[in-house]
Amino acid sequence: MNDAAPNAAPQTFYLKDYKPFGYEVESVKLTFQLSPNATKVHSAIRFTPKADAEDNRFFLHGEQLSLISAKIDGTPVTARLVDGGLECDVPGRSFLWEAEVEIDPAANTALEGLYMSNGMYCTQCEAEGFRKITYYPDRPDVMSTFTVRIEGDEPVMLSNGNPTGAGEGWAEWHDPWPKPAYLFALVAGDLVNHPGSFTTKSGKDVELNIWVRPGDEGKCAFGMEALKKSMKWDEDVYGLEYDLDLFNIVAVDDFNMGAMENKGLNIFNSSCVLASPETSTDANFERIEAIIAHEYFHNWTGNRITCRDWFQLCLKEGLTVFRDAQFTADMRSEPVKRIEDVIALRARQFPEDGGPLAHPPRPEEFQEINNFYTATVYEKGAEVIGMLKRLVGDDNYYKALNLYFERHDGQACTIEDWLKVFEDATGRDLSQFKLWYSQAGTPRVKVSEDYADGTYTLTFEQSTPPTPGQPEKAPRVIPMAVGLLSPNGDEIRATEVLELTEAKQSFTFDGLASKPVPSILREFSAPVILERETTNAERAFLLAHDTDPFNCWEAGNALAKETRVAMVLDGAAPDAAYLDALEKLVRDDEQDPAFRALVLSPPSQSDIAQTLHERGHTPDPQKIYDAAETFTQTLAQQLETSLPRLYAATTVEGPYVPDADGAGKRALNSRILSLLTRLDGGEQAARQYASADNMTQQYAALAALMKAEKGEAQSKAFFEQWQDDRLVMDKWFALQIACAAPETTAATAKELTQHPLFSMKNPNRFRAVMGALAGNHAGFHHASGAGYQLLAENLIALDSVNPQTTARMCAAFQTWKRYDSKRQAQIQAELERILATSGLSRDTHEMVSRMLSA
Ligand code: PHE
Ligand code: ZN
Repeated sequence: MNDAAPNAAPQTFYLKDYKPFGYEVESVKLTFQLSPNATKVHSAIRFTPKADAEDNRFFLHGEQLSLISAKIDGTPVTARLVDGGLECDVPGRSFLWEAEVEIDPAANTALEGLYMSNGMYCTQCEAEGFRKITYYPDRPDVMSTFTVRIEGDEPVMLSNGNPTGAGEGWAEWHDPWPKPAYLFALVAGDLVNHPGSFTTKSGKDVELNIWVRPGDEGKCAFGMEALKKSMKWDEDVYGLEYDLDLFNIVAVDDFNMGAMENKGLNIFNSSCVLASPETSTDANFERIEAIIAHEYFHNWTGNRITCRDWFQLCLKEGLTVFRDAQFTADMRSEPVKRIEDVIALRARQFPEDGGPLAHPPRPEEFQEINNFYTATVYEKGAEVIGMLKRLVGDDNYYKALNLYFERHDGQACTIEDWLKVFEDATGRDLSQFKLWYSQAGTPRVKVSEDYADGTYTLTFEQSTPPTPGQPEKAPRVIPMAVGLLSPNGDEIRATEVLELTEAKQSFTFDGLASKPVPSILREFSAPVILERETTNAERAFLLAHDTDPFNCWEAGNALAKETRVAMVLDGAAPDAAYLDALEKLVRDDEQDPAFRALVLSPPSQSDIAQTLHERGHTPDPQKIYDAAETFTQTLAQQLETSLPRLYAATTVEGPYVPDADGAGKRALNSRILSLLTRLDGGEQAARQYASADNMTQQYAALAALMKAEKGEAQSKAFFEQWQDDRLVMDKWFALQIACAAPETTAATAKELTQHPLFSMKNPNRFRAVMGALAGNHAGFHHASGAGYQLLAENLIALDSVNPQTTARMCAAFQTWKRYDSKRQAQIQAELERILATSGLSRDTHEMVSRMLSA
């Protein structure tokens, strides 16, 4: 089913137009009679007009519903079907609205509303999917209690809250906590549970379950432990307890996003919850732990306190991402988590913020809200909270958060409410800080320095390039964490947070015996781009001496970038001093293996393209690829004699445990294996492949072999071994494209779209193939244009099946203005071709138009 929308002038919604709904919803009772093609939904909703309502229009959202009947207080009424819903004449007092509708879950390939996945009924209602289930004021500021009766012959039938009764062919649920409709969920199917339990700090026993398809029972234990750790952590750190007797998680194979925080019934993309050593990599385990925590944490930040309207999305998402990052840092390694997050921010959010899709963390207009579940709302939204915490300090942060939960529990809130608790808790004026929520774009901060007579001066100049609709930007509050090192490598000034508030501002440090080496933007204290003239010698000095692990890594990262940029622009050879520094680090067993693995991981080719672009050059993807190859080959050769020893020394023996320690060691070991494979013809990788008893090592060996074009036999064997496991097969699809040479990337991807296991209906599989295509920088941007063409064709084909996933994947084109005019013309033609598709969804239409209009 497709939300066929006209190709021109879709409706735009504005933050400034907010108006409360004119009615209180006292209670909601829903009855589902399940049937794959003709599910009947009966609703009984008590409405009471608000005394102070500005607007008494009785409008209920509804899409793709067949209305069978409507009644008010038991008497049939005639509702007027209008665009996007219905209107009805209603009494000026409290009344009971009843409607019966029919829907077609089996035909719902958009995976929004009630749909079927592998024979199982499930729902996805955020943001505006509930209106595809029944007529309702489908907006987050309308909160009510839900009672749900499910009739059908499925063995397991679940909804939100607590079970209140069940019998042959029916089950009833009641959720005592008022909630917006986007948190509604229903699941029914042949499911088995992995049980667990948790006792809250006030002594309440909570039953926990992870529900999966029969056969997946063995992949739940890790997720269950992650859930318990999350529940405990939220009590310990935020004092927040769970509030129902039951917490259910369900794994679903066909899902547009990662997971969903429905009250008491979280629904997960199976890739974000199912885990076993044999089928999941260390990275999968870490991600699963983080997403389980994220969805659990939403119970307070999102569910108990929700959003007034969808413009406030970062109120719940930024905060919940911030909380899950704190959790991961506590469970694993704080510096490693910070470095990983900054890599991801630069890879996903900076390009968004610097391109045609740039928007503030709190956007002021949208056509399709599904298009705003972005890196800016999530990750930059979390960065903004990190800055706030740094500015007010830890104690004040928790004081403000306590006030937030106390003041706003049960409410639908705004960013203003959020900032107000910080102002009230600290007495601080946050009006300038608020610009972070309303201004798009990544600030550039230019740093210059001066030293005379024992006084060291740092001068900062901030500016933000124009973004769509925002030509001018005011200076923001930027917390700049700075430390100073003496030339002999000692830290002479511990980290101090300088508060930038003006376009240009200087700070002085007195009493210094000599000119210090500054370590600026420690811990990446603000999401900005630092511009500072410095030398490779100074970067190498910081890599060796900085006490801030983030900046230590950053120095290595900057060296790597400078080397690669020089190779691309001047055909320079890899910087010898940098290679020496890497060699020293990789051999330094005192250093944390996870950290060594990160320093040894080169910046992505897309990151180099972005860097070149920021510096006013037009990136050539093929040259960037060649430089990467040359660099890695040179590094491998330089380390040649020590690689076998290093490989042996970093191999983790004994049974696989997916903890941070083991993961760090395996990450380093995999980096070394990939270097070794360039020199030994794949011997060691083949041995590792043959003996691996866990996916991390099996996958690392396969990736190293395929990258060296020596993995044909192993790739076949991998397919034979795992063809019945969907999640592992996603890896197999993606890896072939990720490892392909630039000139064969598009052809490899195209061939895989013809594979019998490729499917447009499963977002994970589609993303495995098309995401890998877009992620192979030199392959996607190959001069032939074949990569662009293949992606566009597949997006066009997917749009009528699943608009939401199509629109999200369109963003692969967002960096198009970085490239040369020939590539720009090729991409523009593809974007125009997509836009001209008849019946194009509103989702895709909005994304493509925004990319074209900038
Ligand atoms: N709210 C979900 C999360 O952040 C994401 C999501 C959005 C899932 C929309 C489905 C649809 O955890
Ligand atoms: Zn979330």
